[in-house]
Amino acid sequence: MAITLGSESVRKGVIPAAGRGTRFLPMTKAVPKEMLPIVDRPAIELVVEEATKAGLDDLLFITATNKQMIEDHFDAAPELELALRSGNKLELLESIERYKQYSRVHSVRQGHPHGLGHAVFQAYRHVGDNPFAVLLPDDLMHPEDPVLEKMIAVREQIGGSVVALLEVTPEQATAYGSAAVTNIPLATNGLEGVAGLQEGDVFRLDRIVEKPPIEEVLSKYASVGRFVLDPKVFEILETLPPGRGGEIQLTDSFQTLIETPEEQGGGVTGVVIRGRRFDTGDKLGYLQAVVEMGLEDPALGEKFREFLTGLSL
Ligand code: G1P
Repeated sequence: MAITLGSESVRKGVIPAAGRGTRFLPMTKAVPKEMLPIVDRPAIELVVEEATKAGLDDLLFITATNKQMIEDHFDAAPELELALRSGNKLELLESIERYKQYSRVHSVRQGHPHGLGHAVFQAYRHVGDNPFAVLLPDDLMHPEDPVLEKMIAVREQIGGSVVALLEVTPEQATAYGSAAVTNIPLATNGLEGVAGLQEGDVFRLDRIVEKPPIEEVLSKYASVGRFVLDPKVFEILETLPPGRGGEIQLTDSFQTLIETPEEQGGGVTGVVIRGRRFDTGDKLGYLQAVVEMGLEDPALGEKFREFLTGLSL
């Protein structure tokens, strides 16, 4: 395997996983929310698989105290491997060794929880002067729409930074980064036929604000879960003052990127998410993810569907 270190293309990913998971207490008292199962795999494994498929070969988890379980999941387990091998349980052995096919993972601790922008800033030495992706593990993207792949293709074509956009109601927009946008026609930007993008999927961001009150929502588009960032963002995050909730907000760094000239790494584009997206950090969103993924599971789907159909709801 060729070893590449610095790169113009997007090869590195950052997965902030330091949050306390308060929306999911008491479950998350001892178990990291990222380790909650979606059928038989922890949610974070699906996110790592998505990153791998999008071509990232190096991932950095931003973790905190009580999160060692995440590292263990992506590590060898010699005793268990030996037991499964000697019991000829090869399918199970394959399932616990699957991590070897994913991007290489590393981790660093956030230390103090000063917000998402602060968490991403912890990646600065690891990522260096390279464009990189950020994947929020609470946002589970169904593989039917590889939005991260589309976002990387957009970055490679037009530069700058790229955020995933979700269509939301004004009430929902108050829980997200709310964006004012202008449509970008694919043809004029060399994006026609690129990564399955359709007309109406790509927007320029004109403004963004974190969790606005309802009367200040900027559009039906919210920035969620997946970001492809120019390394310029580290320079911005280093001196960014606290924003909403007294935390250093990643969204505020996007506003500065919007105001930064393109030749200095500025400019932010949005790509609309066309597939299903689940908020697995929320109890209802988590249950929806488990039911939908359970129904699609090759081994369990049929029986699970029979069971659900038989429920008198
Ligand atoms: C974070 C971001 C917000 C984004 C949301 C969903 O908020 O700050 O801009 O819209 O994730 O991806 P959180 O839900 O962590 O408060």
